[in-house]
Amino acid sequence: MIEDISEIQEVTRKFERVGAHSHIRGLGLDEDLRAIDVADGLVGQKRAREAAGAIVRLIKGGKMGGRGILIAGPPGTGKTAIAVAISKELGKDLPFVQLSASECYSAEMKKTEVLIQAMRKAIGVRLKSVRKVLEGEVVGLDYNMVPHPYNPSMKVPDSATLTLATTEEKKSFTVSGRVAMQFMQDGISVGDVIMIDRESARVARLGRSGRGEKSYDLDSRDIVPVPDGKVEKEKEFVYTVTLHDLDEANARRPGLLSIFADTSREIDNEVRQAVDEQVKSWVEEGRAELLPGVLFIDETHLMDIELFSFMNRAMESELSPIIILASNRGYARIRGTDITSPHGIPLDLLDRLLIITTELYSRDEIKEILKIRAMESDIEIEEDALDYLTDIGGKTSLRYATQLLAPAAEIAGLNGNPKVTKAEIERVEGLFVDVSQSSKYLKEWEKEFLQ
Ligand SMILES: Nc1ncnc2c1ncn2[C@@H]1O[C@H](COP(=O)(O)OP(=O)(O)OP(=O)(O)O)[C@@H](O)[C@H]1O
Ligand SMILES: [Mg+2]
Repeated sequence: MIEDISEIQEVTRKFERVGAHSHIRGLGLDEDLRAIDVADGLVGQKRAREAAGAIVRLIKGGKMGGRGILIAGPPGTGKTAIAVAISKELGKDLPFVQLSASECYSAEMKKTEVLIQAMRKAIGVRLKSVRKVLEGEVVGLDYNMVPHPYNPSMKVPDSATLTLATTEEKKSFTVSGRVAMQFMQDGISVGDVIMIDRESARVARLGRSGRGEKSYDLDSRDIVPVPDGKVEKEKEFVYTVTLHDLDEANARRPGLLSIFADTSREIDNEVRQAVDEQVKSWVEEGRAELLPGVLFIDETHLMDIELFSFMNRAMESELSPIIILASNRGYARIRGTDITSPHGIPLDLLDRLLIITTELYSRDEIKEILKIRAMESDIEIEEDALDYLTDIGGKTSLRYATQLLAPAAEIAGLNGNPKVTKAEIERVEGLFVDVSQSSKYLKEWEKEFLQ
């Protein structure tokens, strides 16, 4: 039997940037919160990792509310890496939002609006209610793809056929294009165990069924049993949305204009206030639980005085996420003022921050990190090439050295070498320059042309 589910609601999507930090699995601490030399993809930087571990405990225990953290240290010493590790330790349940301060300056939105939206994305609301749900393992998911109405070179799902199975039965449903799109965005695939709220078509991914999978592919924490009983049932449906999701849902005005509504628009303050009131009453009634997560703001020196004071005020409110800032500046001018302050951060905000510092790496640590990065990218490298790359990392920056790995491997491939050799590192070193070289070059170039 094929049935129809036509409505759609927001589901939280965790925003994560991987790439350069994909090798990081956690903080690599033992039970006493002591850093293990090399663990979870992290090397050295023990004091900072242990401090981060203590903070994770406070956050999980709900004892960090309204406070902030600053990770300060020279470029390439793992500030962003540690923030990523913190997000891994917090787990899937707590939102972790990463924002580079430069993203606040956009043409579509006020800078404070970008910041407040990021803060509200970092606060989860876990809602519980008994609902009519569809629950089961996804055993079939076929998208009916059609060309995008405005961009025919792109395909989007028009609908999808979903088959869910429990230990007892199997049922198929047609879902609308918007629900299908949601499946795609959440990466739902055959083998996932999911629950769908019948009425709102909200989707919650419960885990993987683990049937017929190779065990090494799986994170064992993610495996869940195939549900028993019927596919359709009444059940307590637990799902997490963010305050921002609720803002968006409530700002959605019916009518002609909503056709043009996109996600990059500003939300009225009244809507936010109404959402806050609603959430607070749900919490009082025991129907919801607040999950304050983390907003990580990188490149803090790009924030200006207006953003800082806005954030300072927001941190005082009861609904505030934990804010982690990262800075690689010593003393700097606070943007938008003539005042110089430590890290370019206003003193009243600095007063509220716990500060973690990161230190420069030793040669051995640089080598170990490069080794891990090579392994993560499936790049094999000769010992002397790794030594040479380590020297480059010591002289210039760790970031520059890690970035040379991929092009060196590319050239090794062209040369027919299974392993990257020293010659290839030398070759790419000659092709790409690091920041200090490129800025020096431009300075000299300017001198030539500006006199
Ligand atoms: N202790 C570490 N263990 C493993 N990998 C690390 C460690 N520190 C840094 N890295 C990796 O080295 C690279 C550079 O580090 P990262 O970007 O975190 O530095 P940063 O302090 O944030 O620099 P910036 O000040 O320029 O933002 C990244 O790929 C990061 O994942
Ligand atoms: Mg960084």
